[in-house]
Amino acid sequence: CGIVGYVGPRDCVPILLEGLARLEYRGYDSAGVAVVGKGKLRVRKVKGRVGQLTQDVPARLSGPVGIGHTRWATHGVPSEQNAHPHVDGSGRVAVVHNGVIENAEELRAKLIANGVEFVSETDTEVLAHLIAAVDVDDIEEAVRRVLPEIVGTYGIAVVDTRQPDRIIAARNGSPVILGVGDKELFVASDVMALVRHTSQVVHLEDGEVAVLTADGFSTRTLDATVTTRPPTTVDVEDDDYQAEGYGHFMRKEIHDQPTAVERTLRGRLDDRFGTAHLGGLNLTPRESREFKRVKILGCGSAHYAGQIGAQLIEELARVPADSEPASEFRYRNPLIDPDTLYVAVSQSGETYDTLATVQEIQRKGGRVLGVVNAVGSSIARQCDGGIYLHAGPEISVTSTKAFTVTTVDFALLALHLARVRDLSPADGQRLVRGLRALPSQIGEILKLEDQIAGLAQEYGTCPNVMFIGRVRGWPVAREGALKLKEVSYVHAEAYPASELKHGPLALISPETPTVAIVPDDELYDKNLTTLGEIKARGGRILALAHRELPSALADHTIVVPRAEPELDPILLGIPLQMLAYHAAVLLGHDVDHPRNLAKSVTVE
Ligand code: G6P
Repeated sequence: CGIVGYVGPRDCVPILLEGLARLEYRGYDSAGVAVVGKGKLRVRKVKGRVGQLTQDVPARLSGPVGIGHTRWATHGVPSEQNAHPHVDGSGRVAVVHNGVIENAEELRAKLIANGVEFVSETDTEVLAHLIAAVDVDDIEEAVRRVLPEIVGTYGIAVVDTRQPDRIIAARNGSPVILGVGDKELFVASDVMALVRHTSQVVHLEDGEVAVLTADGFSTRTLDATVTTRPPTTVDVEDDDYQAEGYGHFMRKEIHDQPTAVERTLRGRLDDRFGTAHLGGLNLTPRESREFKRVKILGCGSAHYAGQIGAQLIEELARVPADSEPASEFRYRNPLIDPDTLYVAVSQSGETYDTLATVQEIQRKGGRVLGVVNAVGSSIARQCDGGIYLHAGPEISVTSTKAFTVTTVDFALLALHLARVRDLSPADGQRLVRGLRALPSQIGEILKLEDQIAGLAQEYGTCPNVMFIGRVRGWPVAREGALKLKEVSYVHAEAYPASELKHGPLALISPETPTVAIVPDDELYDKNLTTLGEIKARGGRILALAHRELPSALADHTIVVPRAEPELDPILLGIPLQMLAYHAAVLLGHDVDHPRNLAKSVTVE
């Protein structure tokens, strides 16, 4: 979900609507704004997208103070009633909230027993009633008194008609960022909504409450201790938020990849010693040598990028490494081993399951590095060190450039670890050359877009598609299938090519094509055998390979430039992003906002 708020001399409504549009990738099933002006609270909400809200907002709705929200449903269906802001019964206090209140049912029952009437099914509405019920004149104090009763996570913004010059914001587990302007203050759950107005930001800490007025802000802890939070400067270009010329952010971000990879490599490669310098790791060479395993944790595409990372680390540094969904890991009371290096992967740095995993590992004495895109995000700040992607903002819900850049950063990490262990200088130099070649090789792949768009009808729009790959190709197949599912809603299944004959071969028929990852590596011949098995069952095959495959084995081949073999997975995934994109366009889907999803899931 996304939160935005404004207090200052301008009319807040256009600022809120524009901010919400920028946050829409965080959730887009309903949206709303609450405006305080002339002693009154006015609220407008819609089921649907921010564009709908913009159309519905009457021209006369204006005021100097307001809050807005775009929602990704957790409690209650997407509807106008369940949309935020939520207001108390007297229409005095309005609240927008990200996160989940775990004891909402209990609090709701108490309020109902006291005669409060609820109009929504959301957990958030309890906050509006509880805050309004506190018998004090000061809204900040009311908020501070209520929050200790809340079990769960929240990032909130609150307005009250009795103090119409201010917004109260608070955070526990869900991001809240203040934007400090000239005689105006902004609040948002994500810098995206702020950068057009200011580069001066303050990330609230958990347990902090802020008061924002046009003249400035103050922060305190829940027990009223004043905290000092000097603003920091965010370094993002407003241009990153325009998809112009590309039609969709997904396509723009696919095409951004040569630049994004170049940026992530900048200043980190050492040609002479054949290694990578990663200043943020906070690991001494001795520490880098001493741990005995690497465990990578992330969700969705981050987990699959982690799988490629684990293979790179194990192959180059010869340390056992694996990747597991963070969401699964934290629920199985995992054994935290002091000799393991934990790595958390997240584009947004706000995925709750990943953040909670980092905290759980640290609670048990483990050390966690972050591979994160969003600078200053919750996961980046929580980790003990790490690597920033520097991929630039990723707006499209489905990940493309952040995925690729994450795999590149794992190659850097693997190289760094390998060179303090067993890897030879010559191999290190070979990999440095291989990494340097990636941006132009990605540029070559992007030139295949027309060919891939032509193939999308045949391989991306049928009811079922099988994706297969072996070892290095296996996570590539998984990510390729996920891309297609996310944006095209086509059922795609990813399987290790070696496992196909143990069951899923039963699904192969002329109606279910296979996308096969067939790099020119030591498993090439084995892959060809699998293709033969598919062809013998009448299956159609699209191969991603380093050379054109015989037509008896593949109906079509996308020929991808060859990288150093260990780096091949980084390149092989890119045509699959384009395949999913063009399939979604052909099917007429809202590519950047696939149904049911949100870019960053900040709830459990
Ligand atoms: C959501 C998105 C996925 C993403 C995952 C992890 O589920 O829809 O596309 O891969 O979160 O996001 P993160 O920001 O932690 O990388």
